[in-house]
Amino acid sequence: MSAQIIDGKAIGKAVRAEVATEVARLTERGIVPGLTVVLVGEDPASQVYVRMKGRACDEAGMKSGTVRLPTTVTEAELLDTIDRLNADPTVHGMLVQLPLPDHIDEANVLLRIDPRKDVDGFHPINVGKLVTGDPNGFKPATPYGVQEMLIRSGIETSGAHVVIVGRSNIVGKPMANLLIQKGPGANATVTVCHSRTKDIGSVTRSADILIVAMGKPEFITADMVKPGAAVIDVGINRVDDATKEKGYRLVGDVAYGPVSEVVAAITPVPGGVGPMTIAMLLKNTLQAAMTL
Ligand code: GUN
Repeated sequence: MSAQIIDGKAIGKAVRAEVATEVARLTERGIVPGLTVVLVGEDPASQVYVRMKGRACDEAGMKSGTVRLPTTVTEAELLDTIDRLNADPTVHGMLVQLPLPDHIDEANVLLRIDPRKDVDGFHPINVGKLVTGDPNGFKPATPYGVQEMLIRSGIETSGAHVVIVGRSNIVGKPMANLLIQKGPGANATVTVCHSRTKDIGSVTRSADILIVAMGKPEFITADMVKPGAAVIDVGINRVDDATKEKGYRLVGDVAYGPVSEVVAAITPVPGGVGPMTIAMLLKNTLQAAMTL
C-alpha cells in the first residue's frame, strides 16, 4: 500500500497566504503586525530556524526583527531586553528561541514575556488557557500546526485514538491538551508515551493517529505502527552522511521508507511539520496584532 504523503509545505503555504491577506487588511488600517525573535548564542539549528522565521514574516508583509545576544549574556540583561520589547508598540509578538544557555533560567524568561505578546504560547497564562480550552490564548506553533495539518488533510480526530510519543513542553504536552479539547481537529482519545513507557510498541500499535516528537532518528519502525494509521513525524535529526555535501542529512523520528509501506498517511521530513510550525507562528502574530 502506498501512503498519502501529507504535504506540510503546501498546507503551510496556504495558511501563510491566508495570513498575508489579513496582514494586508490590517496594514491598510495602519497596523503592521510585527514579530521579534530573540536569539541567544550561536546554536546552528537555532540560527537556521530564526532566519526562516524572519523570512516568512517578511514574505507575509509583517515587520520582522531579530535581537541577537551573546552566549555570555546575563539573565538580567535578557530580562531587560524582554521588558523593552514588552513596551514597544510596534512589536505585537515576540519569542525567545530555545534552548537557552545553562546559566539562564528558562522559566524566569518565559514568565517575563507579556502573555499578550507570547506568540509561542509558552507563558503559564497561555498554557493555562490551552488546558482550559480558552480560545483567547496562544497555542504553541508546532502542535497547533499538526492539528491544522490533520484538519486540512481530512484526517478525522474525533473519537480516534491518538498516541503521542514525547512529553516536552513544546510539543508533547500541548499536543495532548489540544487534541482532548472539544471542537474541530480534536475530541480525540489521547495517550502520551515517554522514555519510561513500558513496551512502547504495543502502545504505538494501538494508535489510529501516531504523533512522534522524541528526537531519536528513525526510532519508530514499521512493526510499531498499525496498518492504515496516520503518522505525523515532528522529529528533525541530523545524521552523518558522507554522500551529502554538508556531511549530514535530515531524518525524522520515524523510519519513513518502511513505515510509509504500512500506513495510510504520513508526513515527510523535511517538508512535513516544519513548514506548518512557521505558518502557525505567523498566524499567532496576526492574532496578537488584531487583539493587542
Ligand atoms: N526551539 C525549538 N522549538 C521552538 C519553538 O517552537 N519556539 C522557541 N522559542 N524555541 C524553540
